[in-house]
Amino acid sequence: MSNSTHRLSVIIDCDPGQDDALMLFLALNAPELDVLGVVACGGNVPLARTELNCRILVEMAGRTDVPVYAGCVGPMVEQLFTAEYLHGETGIDGIDFFEPSIPKQDMHGVDFIIETLRKAEDDEITLVPTGPLTNIAMALRKAPDILPKIKQIVLMGGASFEAGNVTPSAEFNIYVDPHAADIVMRCGRPIVMFGLDVTHQLMTNPCIVENISVLDNKVAHASAGMLDFFGQYDAAKYSAEGGPLHDPCTIAWLLEPEIFELKPCHVAIETTSELTRGHTAVDFWGVTGNEPNALWAHEANRDRFFGLLTERLALY
Ligand code: RIB
Ligand code: CA
Repeated sequence: MSNSTHRLSVIIDCDPGQDDALMLFLALNAPELDVLGVVACGGNVPLARTELNCRILVEMAGRTDVPVYAGCVGPMVEQLFTAEYLHGETGIDGIDFFEPSIPKQDMHGVDFIIETLRKAEDDEITLVPTGPLTNIAMALRKAPDILPKIKQIVLMGGASFEAGNVTPSAEFNIYVDPHAADIVMRCGRPIVMFGLDVTHQLMTNPCIVENISVLDNKVAHASAGMLDFFGQYDAAKYSAEGGPLHDPCTIAWLLEPEIFELKPCHVAIETTSELTRGHTAVDFWGVTGNEPNALWAHEANRDRFFGLLTERLALY
C-alpha cells in the first residue's frame, strides 16, 4: 500500500450498477487515490446507460474534474447479456435521476486507457475493472506495449467455493465476456481478484442502509436509495436481508488492505463450454502445478468493510 503522501494513480472501468456506484463514491473522495478517468462498459445495462450513469455518479460526487469515457458496447465474442432484472431498467434504480452537465469524452475508452498508460512510468497505473473485462482486454490486444505500465489490476469477478450468480458455474462479469477475462488472466501483470467467495460475506442489511441514510449529504442519501433497491433482488431470491456489495471491495482493498485475506492462486477461465462458460477455475490448493497468476480474496472483515464505507460516505 502506498504511503500517505503518494496518491495511487487509478483508472476505473465499470458498468453501473448500484454496487459500481458505491465503488465510485468510495474512490472519488479518497485522498489516497488519483482517479485519472472512468471508463464505462456494457454490462449490467447497455453502454448508453452505463456511461450516462458514470457521468451522473461522478457529478453527484462533485468530481466533474474526472473525465468519463464510453468503452466497448459489448463483449469481444459473445452477445451482451445484461442484468436489468437485478439493477432495474436504468442500472442505478433507487437514485433520483438527473441529466448530468458533464459531457461524455469523445475519445473511446479503450484509447483513453492506452494513451494514459503510454504516458505513464512503468508500474504506475492501477486498473480497477468492476464490470466485464472487455475494455481492459481490448487495450491489451491493441497496445501490448502498455503492459509494463500496469502496476496492478484490482478486479471484481469470478467465484470458486461459491456457485455462480448467472449460471451455476459463472459470476456475471466473467460470464458476460469470458474471452476478455481469459486475456486479462494471462497478461502477466499483478492481479487481485474479488469474487463471490468474498463479496457474499459482505451482504447489506436494513441497519447498514439506515446508518448510511441518516448521513447528512446527497451522496449518502443516493447510496441508501440504491442499496435499498439493490437488496430487493437478493431478498426475494435468497431470503437475504440485503445485497452483496461486490464492487466496493476493490477500492476498499486499496484503502485498507487488511480488511481482506488473499491467497496466491492460479485462475483459469472457461471460454469454450456452453455449460460452464465464464467459470473461474481457482486453484486454491495448488493442485494444478500452475504458477499463481492472481491474489484471490477469500475472507473479509465485515465490520471494518462497512465501517470504512460508512465513514467515507460521511465525508461527502
Ligand atoms: O457478479 C457481480 C458483478 O456483476 C458486479 O460487478 C455487478 O455490478 C455486476 O457487474
Ligand atoms: Ca459491476
